[in-house]
Amino acid sequence: MSDLKPGRLFDNVSLLKFTTMSFQNESPYAVHVFVCTNDRAGVRKSCADEHSQLIKETMKQVVDAKGWKGKVRVSASGCLGLCAAGPNVMIYPQKIWFSGVSPDDIDSIVSVVERIISEK
Ligand code: FES
Repeated sequence: MSDLKPGRLFDNVSLLKFTTMSFQNESPYAVHVFVCTNDRAGVRKSCADEHSQLIKETMKQVVDAKGWKGKVRVSASGCLGLCAAGPNVMIYPQKIWFSGVSPDDIDSIVSVVERIISEK
């Protein structure tokens, strides 16, 4: 018994198209913090030269400690295009950008995130 009847094949193609289509939706997070962790291994300046991986990991720990999981997401990003000013951190969808970030600046970024969440 074969499943390859014309109607069945068409249904499979439709299903394939449906499952490979993108769809638009709102961000599931109130705040999404992107930390550029691009690393060019010293060939050219990149955010990873100045502890951006540590910044990202610390931000993730803070989000966990504050119980913000599900509301705030911290993600590593690739190059955000302003390498000379890095490390760069971008907060989406609020369009807030931090440059020249060091681990000492994490408290300031957390304060901004806290303010955004409190205003929601
Ligand atoms: S390497 Fe971070 S913005 Fe380009």
